[in-house]
Amino acid sequence: MITRKGIIIAIDGPAGAGKSTTAKLLAEKLNYKYIDTGAMYRAVTLYALRNSIKPEEKDKLVELVKNMDFRFENNGSVLFVNKENVSEEIRKPEVSSKVSEFSKIAEVREILVQKQREIGAEGGIVMEGRDITTAVFPNAELKIFLTADLDIRAYRRLIELKNKGMNINLDDVRDNLETRDLIDSNREVNPLMVTEDSIVIDTTKLTIDEQVDAIYNKAQEIIKSLNLNQSHRN
Ligand code: DC
Repeated sequence: MITRKGIIIAIDGPAGAGKSTTAKLLAEKLNYKYIDTGAMYRAVTLYALRNSIKPEEKDKLVELVKNMDFRFENNGSVLFVNKENVSEEIRKPEVSSKVSEFSKIAEVREILVQKQREIGAEGGIVMEGRDITTAVFPNAELKIFLTADLDIRAYRRLIELKNKGMNINLDDVRDNLETRDLIDSNREVNPLMVTEDSIVIDTTKLTIDEQVDAIYNKAQEIIKSLNLNQSHRN
C-alpha cells in the first residue's frame, strides 16, 4: 500500500472554462489541497507592474520572482505574497490584460513550475492552470482538460467580476479571454494544449455540480484502484 496524501489531479484549460470553481469544489469534496497557479502568474504580473519592470527585463524579473514567497490560505481562495494578501488586486483588469505577456517568459515559468512541484509533491492536490498536465505534473494520476465556448466563458467571467464589484462590460471581458487564449496557446514555452491522456470535459452545457461530479467519480475510481492509504490534507 502506498501512503501519500492522495493522488495528483491536474486540470488545464482556457480562461473562464470554470477551472477554479470546479477545482476548488472538487478539492473540498476530496479533502485535498487546491492550488490556482494562474493566481501565481497574476501575482508576478502585479509585482512587475508595481515595480515598473517590463517583460523584456528578464534579469530583474527573475530576481523579483525568486524573492516572492507564495502562500495559499482558505483552501486556495486567498493568496499571500510575502505576507501581503493580493487576492483582490490580482483580478483587476490591468493585471488581466498583461498577465499573458509575463507568463510567456521561460525564466519566470521555470521558477514558478518548480515552486508548484514543491507545493504538490506529497499528492492530495487539485492543481489548475495551463501547463499542469504537460509540464508541472505530466505524471499526474488524473488529467483533465476543461473547456467551453468563448461566449459562455466570457459571460461567466463577467458575472464573476461583477459580483466582485468590478465595473466591466461583456465585450472587454470577451476580448481579454480571446487574446489571452491566443497567447497562452501559441507561446513557445509550455503552451496550453490537450495531452493524449487527458479527459476533455466541455462545460458549455454542464452545471458546476455535473462538472465536479464527473471528475470526482473518476478520481474515486483511480484512488480505489491504486489502493492509496490517504492521510489528511494538512
Ligand atoms: O487562470 P487565470 O486565467 O487566472 O490565469 C491567468 C494567466 O496566467 C493566463 O492567461 C496564463 C497564465 N497561466 C499560465 O501561463 N500557466 C498556468 N499554469 C496558469 C496561468
